[in-house]
Amino acid sequence: MDHLYKNLALNLVRVTESAALSAGKYLGRGLKEEGDGAAVDAMRAAFGTIDINGTVIIGEGEKDKAPMLFNGEKVGNGKGLALDLAIDPVEGTNLLALGRPNAIAVVGAAPAGSMYDPGPSFYMKKIVVSEEAKDVVELDAPVEDNLKNIARALGKTTDELVVFVLEKPRHKELIANIRKTGACIQLHTDGDVAGSLMAVSPNSEVDVMMGTGGTPEGVLSACAIRALGGQMFARLDPQSLMEKDALLRHGTDLNSHFSVETLVKSRDVFFAATGISGGSFLKGVKYHAKGAVSHSMVLNGKTRTIRFIESHHVF
Ligand code: FBP
Repeated sequence: MDHLYKNLALNLVRVTESAALSAGKYLGRGLKEEGDGAAVDAMRAAFGTIDINGTVIIGEGEKDKAPMLFNGEKVGNGKGLALDLAIDPVEGTNLLALGRPNAIAVVGAAPAGSMYDPGPSFYMKKIVVSEEAKDVVELDAPVEDNLKNIARALGKTTDELVVFVLEKPRHKELIANIRKTGACIQLHTDGDVAGSLMAVSPNSEVDVMMGTGGTPEGVLSACAIRALGGQMFARLDPQSLMEKDALLRHGTDLNSHFSVETLVKSRDVFFAATGISGGSFLKGVKYHAKGAVSHSMVLNGKTRTIRFIESHHVF
């Protein structure tokens, strides 16, 4: 069983590479659906070649709206480990369509039954920090208090902090409150999985990720944070009455608080990401006459191994 686990990390990167290589051809072409569709097809085909008995917990959505890689779909050749999967063939579909940085293909995997299934939830409020600051933040504490405590834990002043925030109208007040502290804000139109990765990685310029983003992206980020260290605290944050009603009908407690340990209950977690468009974290796919070069990151939660892989593909 142990060798299956070890190989899983490298097999998962094949899956994200396939998605990235297919999606990359759509970079900057304004074709969001087509780029996502190509990545979904490629990812699904790549899953079919690996020894897992996987269930998509976080996928492209409900079966009828997403013909492939829908929530609940079985993937893999069915012969290997029973796994829960969180997938996003293109995290940042707008980034891809508009040729902006930080679009990535991502997969998280954990033993069957260990991944939080968010049901009909779309949005989640999150705060993500690195290992050093994980004990000093509270999701609902005033922004000023959290940033003061993070700065102290990181040995910085508040105005030396860099906060990743999604540039959305719902964050008007959050942005104003961060500005009052003097901290620097990196505003990104999309891509809070990349934001979470940056917040927990010691070598990135980002110290903290704050605000409301996708719930699926929250579970995916939790897989990575479980393996990298650091923490994310979160709570479902429905953005419409329809979403709230659907959650209440589903029996979801809207006051539940989550950490990475409750979003992914096992340490035996794997995470793979391949850059589609270039970013500060992973380089994008580079095509040349005979093939392409891709850059990926693979994490093994059990061993806490972090691998960066440059792959040269010949077509
Ligand atoms: P997609 O790849 O599904 O387009 O998601 C991009 C993203 O920016 C996520 O990173 C983020 O969590 C979510 O969308 C935020 O949703 P919205 O753009 O609706 O505020």
